[in-house]
Amino acid sequence: MKRIVFLISGNGTNLQAIMDNCKTGDIKANIVSVISNNPDAFGLERAKSEGIETKVINHKDYKTRDLFDNDLFKYIEGVNPDLIVLAGFMRILTPKITDSYFGKIINIHPSLLPKYPGLDTHSKVIENKDSHHGVSIHYVSNELDAGPLIAQATIKTKDAETLDELIERVHATEHKIFSKVIKFICDDQIILDTGKVIFHDIKTNGVHIDEYFEI
Ligand code: GAR
Repeated sequence: MKRIVFLISGNGTNLQAIMDNCKTGDIKANIVSVISNNPDAFGLERAKSEGIETKVINHKDYKTRDLFDNDLFKYIEGVNPDLIVLAGFMRILTPKITDSYFGKIINIHPSLLPKYPGLDTHSKVIENKDSHHGVSIHYVSNELDAGPLIAQATIKTKDAETLDELIERVHATEHKIFSKVIKFICDDQIILDTGKVIFHDIKTNGVHIDEYFEI
């Protein structure tokens, strides 16, 4: 069983989806800790109610990003995870962490990267009247939202859809594709080998998993 650590900052619906899939045995992993930089993150309550260890490392208690990352690094080292999952973790990590755990940290991002790295992806999709939106899952590197791509899931935008409606559909998409990718990683069917994502026995459209969802 793989040992997974989650890093979150907010609601934790992705965390919930993965906890649920671990409980059914579909994902063969133990979530050993859920860390948040935000003491008020609801995801912490979700973890506690499943009896999972939680840890708050509040970035506001640190003068610099490096000092915050030093403590985060020390804590993660103590937990000794096989996989670190960034699920709505809204802090940029420094190379101290991204280099040390390269190939062991994944992130979910609400856009079809390389389109719209950073914040406010959903508003940008609406403003630009994009016909499609979606989700990307990638290994984390030193560059923001730009590490080796593992999977993307695309949805069609709808006319007159509100921001909240779009966000809800993106979330539902995330829960499906993230669960699938984490299951594959825990089954050693997806690995990062010298910077390249390798898929064992998984059909991919090209170099990454590429799915279309009617949600
Ligand atoms: C998710 O939509 C995730 O893609 C996004 O934060 C949300 C967290 O939702 N992450 C980022 O924007 C990172 N750049 P959740 O707390 O309900 O899982």
